[in-house]
Amino acid sequence: MITSRRDFLRSLSTGAAAGMAVHWQPSGISRAATVEPSRFKQDGELIHLNSNENAYGPSTKVVDAIKSSIGSANRYPRMEYNALAERIAGFHKVKPEQVLLGCGSTEILRMAAFAFLGNGKQLIQSSPTFEAIEHYARAASSEVISVRLNPAFAHDLDGMLARANASTTLVYICNPNNPTASLTARKDLENFIGKLPAASFVIDEAYHHYAGQSGMYASFIDRPLGDERVIVARTFSKVYGLAGLRLGYAVASPKIVQQMRRFATEDNINAVVTQAAAAALDDTDGVNGSVRRNTDDRQEFFNQAMARALKPIDSHANFVMMNTFHPAGEVIQHFCKNNILIGRLFPTMDSYIRVSLGRPEEMRAFWRAWDMLPYPKHSMQH
Ligand SMILES: Cc1ncc(COP(=O)(O)O)c(C=O)c1O
Repeated sequence: MITSRRDFLRSLSTGAAAGMAVHWQPSGISRAATVEPSRFKQDGELIHLNSNENAYGPSTKVVDAIKSSIGSANRYPRMEYNALAERIAGFHKVKPEQVLLGCGSTEILRMAAFAFLGNGKQLIQSSPTFEAIEHYARAASSEVISVRLNPAFAHDLDGMLARANASTTLVYICNPNNPTASLTARKDLENFIGKLPAASFVIDEAYHHYAGQSGMYASFIDRPLGDERVIVARTFSKVYGLAGLRLGYAVASPKIVQQMRRFATEDNINAVVTQAAAAALDDTDGVNGSVRRNTDDRQEFFNQAMARALKPIDSHANFVMMNTFHPAGEVIQHFCKNNILIGRLFPTMDSYIRVSLGRPEEMRAFWRAWDMLPYPKHSMQH
């Protein structure tokens, strides 16, 4: 386990040398790169721009709900599980049997991997994308096919189709995609899903709220396809600011929910988050405020980037990816030496960094550190 900034730096350089991400491996399942160093704290010292969290935390109403739920911490939240599933179902206008809760949407991805993959079966995903499902797929002895994003950083759906075969039982589509914050057009996804009749599809909408303004995007919950094989994953870790309380969910057909539920951890939801999540769903102003703040922070990031003649990838999320035209491992280390954690290394994009949007003062520190990068800046102006 990484316990200090010095240890973190040391492990980073080892990881960077090996072309790998820094990671911690819990027993059994490799979660390379899904657990980031921010957990191994030097809190108060480090600026966390590395895990796409909500830098502002939950809304006041949600904080109040958290406080008032503490008294039930001694009870298993079994009744609350159903109440929350019903609340989420009502929120999305689906049946409660269509909702499955998880300890973060990471658990949803694990359940999908174990329900639909296994020896002789194949997962198709993009590269780079959010890696959790890949690790669970490998743990389930499946083959994993990774297809590079296209030049617009959208999922290369034709490329994915070309690699699919009779053993392709699961396809992972992260939209907006992590780490690129890019979108894949809804109409292209519809076409693609129609062409792969044997597979199930996880559409990971972790960053849904930040993509709302784009005409090319439509959530598969808000505009369902009416296709039994589509599983939408959502999380309370981003716009709602509850990453530390661990809650995610899937919306899918009742049959798929049943298949996945067999792999859920017993009592996977905690007593505090059930109350927090219900309050978060009720707090429309809180969510709108969170989205607005992100829009402003993102715009300011692009203003600062433009002032330096940098061209980040267009972002539809609460983070930004950009080419530094230098080995990203060295850039990451530079920021770490300045007490700023940014995203890890990502396969196939080894000169790019991913920066989660922080509070204004944190972003000012980011740009100060950027301006101190010991590289000729002209190489970055593309
Ligand atoms: C695309 C994507 N999916 C899922 C997750 C997992 O979120 P959680 O397990 O906190 O709900 C993340 C976390 O960063 C993510 O980026």
